[in-house]
Amino acid sequence: MRPLHLAAIFVSLIACVDSFGQTTQPIIAAQEGGATIWRIQTARSLYEIGLAGDGVVVPLYYGPKDGPTSVPTDRLNVVGAKIRSAIREIPFRGGVGEQVPAIEVVYPDGVRDADLTYDSSSIAQIEGQPGLQINLKDPAYGLKVSAYYRILPELDLMQRWIVLSNGGDKPITLENAQSASCQLPAGEYGLMHLAGDWAREFMPRSAPLTPGVKTLQSRNFQSFTTPPWITVCSDGADETRGNVFFASLHYSGNWRLDIAQSFRGDVQLIGGINFWDTALQLKPGETFTTPRMVIGFSPDGIQGGSRRMHQYVRQEVLPASFRNQPRPVIYNSWFATAFNVNEQQQVELAKIASQIGVELFVVDDGWFKGRNDDHAGLGDWIADPTKFPNGLSPMIRRINDLGMDFGIWVEPEMVNPDSDLYRAHPDWVFNYPTRKRHEQRNQLMLNLARQDVYDYLLDAMSKLLRQNNIKFIKWDRNRGLSEPGWPAAPREQQRAVRIVYMQNLYKLIDTLRTRFPEVMFEDCSGGGGRADLGMLQRMDQIWPSDNTNPTDRLFIQSGFLRMFPPNTMVSWVTDDNWHHAALSMQYRFAVSMAGVPGVGGDIAKWSGADRETAKKMITLYKKIRPIIQQGTVHQLALPTAGDRVALEYLSPDRKQGVLLLYTLRDPPAGSTDAERRTRVLHLVGLDPNAPYSVRNDPADSPEQILSGRTLMDVGMPWPIYGDYNCAILRLQKK
Ligand code: DGJ
Repeated sequence: MRPLHLAAIFVSLIACVDSFGQTTQPIIAAQEGGATIWRIQTARSLYEIGLAGDGVVVPLYYGPKDGPTSVPTDRLNVVGAKIRSAIREIPFRGGVGEQVPAIEVVYPDGVRDADLTYDSSSIAQIEGQPGLQINLKDPAYGLKVSAYYRILPELDLMQRWIVLSNGGDKPITLENAQSASCQLPAGEYGLMHLAGDWAREFMPRSAPLTPGVKTLQSRNFQSFTTPPWITVCSDGADETRGNVFFASLHYSGNWRLDIAQSFRGDVQLIGGINFWDTALQLKPGETFTTPRMVIGFSPDGIQGGSRRMHQYVRQEVLPASFRNQPRPVIYNSWFATAFNVNEQQQVELAKIASQIGVELFVVDDGWFKGRNDDHAGLGDWIADPTKFPNGLSPMIRRINDLGMDFGIWVEPEMVNPDSDLYRAHPDWVFNYPTRKRHEQRNQLMLNLARQDVYDYLLDAMSKLLRQNNIKFIKWDRNRGLSEPGWPAAPREQQRAVRIVYMQNLYKLIDTLRTRFPEVMFEDCSGGGGRADLGMLQRMDQIWPSDNTNPTDRLFIQSGFLRMFPPNTMVSWVTDDNWHHAALSMQYRFAVSMAGVPGVGGDIAKWSGADRETAKKMITLYKKIRPIIQQGTVHQLALPTAGDRVALEYLSPDRKQGVLLLYTLRDPPAGSTDAERRTRVLHLVGLDPNAPYSVRNDPADSPEQILSGRTLMDVGMPWPIYGDYNCAILRLQKK
């Protein structure tokens, strides 16, 4: 993008406005009463920033474009007021700034205050979308800061990021560089985010915002406690109505999202890399680009925000190679065989898997050298010679002959002290020489910031993929970071270790994808410990949790679907039943079919009847797969709201739909109205004027024909009774 000076932009924009009308321009810059205003419009939102007379770029407005408070009446006064209150669009440490800073630097002479003022700007396409670039500079030291806005008007969201460059002649230390900050107008707000733990990931939690700062963050590379996603709800907004702002980060290392409300009521939303215990040296001529932050607006409540996220992930984030490809039905042998794998046993499982309709057979942990339990082997990525004396290829060929692709589990970032790799390179792990190397799951973490570690892993993974017909990698990561020391690096580089690690991890996966474009990747971190947009840029799907109990899974999946679309949500049917409830095979499959289903049970022990059910359910799934994986999802009844769960999936043209309905508990006769409220199911998103047929599949009751309006306004009777019952209904516009 070529920077243009503002004066030039006005000329070109005035011409555009005259020819096409102002509303067709997603981004305009205008002069109003001597002040410069940038106006970013999406389908439903307006974002305004201004240039104050003293060269400070200030936020003016973010919210609905037709809302009552939408456009400040006197922008000049607003600009003036912002200067007085020192609210900045790109907040930095320095002067009278009072926000959570996006930029904190230390200059070579020890000065820690920045003074960033407007330099230039340009409006031009960025990667095929309308874009704005605002350039600031601190002339005393040559620091340049460019803030980027890439707009996706139909999705009501923008990608934001910052590039810092050192145009001076001495190194500058970056102590903080957030991706973006924005201000929401003063008001009453609630915060909703996802919280959790291992095996209990993606649980929604909400609370009213009060003045002060709420920080969500990761400091050990893991995001079990909260993944990087937030929703800020305006007063009165709920699941389906009201104005909601949402944000997420394209980052898988340590990250932070701060939501800061002032006593006046306005809210700052800021996020990016967590610079806790981190600093970067920017040498003369060097630049640093922050990861992207996505910020969006929904006038349709929390779920409207989730649907925009889903579309965003599908259109913009997922690797292009498989973006629109159906995700295959998987068999994964982890729950059946754990570490005890061998060729004959896996092929026997594969025979049954192929009979029930599985498309991709995955051998999980346990296949590589010395891996008989979790105490040994990580790091040595060659087939275990006792388990696979002829290597993996004969087994893969037999699995391919059964009509299935083959996939394999790896955990490249880790090493067991009991491994050839560690014995040869004990210095390759994160460590401080004077501190204990804490193991988790008997493993240590390789320091991927080191070039030799990067080279080893690229070579080991490339050999594995080159020598075997592998079409799928499950990339696991089973511990967080401790003792983040990098003793071999020069002192001034050591605190950059977490950032360089992530840069190399991304480069490693990207390089493997370029070398092996036919291989799909699944993101796993002991379940959902690293589920974020940074991973989804290079992984095709996510394993959300190690908890495969179907009722728990309904909760985990409901939370997961707030952030990510169903074609990224993998869910296997296993034999695990943590709560000992009476769960039928149909129920277990119906739960896994809410996303990308798989089978993880010991199918060798399944009865003929169970295998027959599995085959029927997988056959049904393949018919509805395009609607489930690519459709619009509405969570009509949330597991957190009662004892029933209802999901509606609609094809983009609204002609076909699927309803997945589950009971957890059948409310007893004495229950309250509130407990029984989902007895009627109101559908959403249908064409009100068209008739729809509603029938269950496999069909065992006559189809009903009802208008879209009736299904939405009057609703349809809840069709299933009893504890742990389920139904899969299909909708077809007539
Ligand atoms: C943790 C994963 O979440 C499981 O699915 C499995 O792959 C194990 N690791 C294997 O060690």
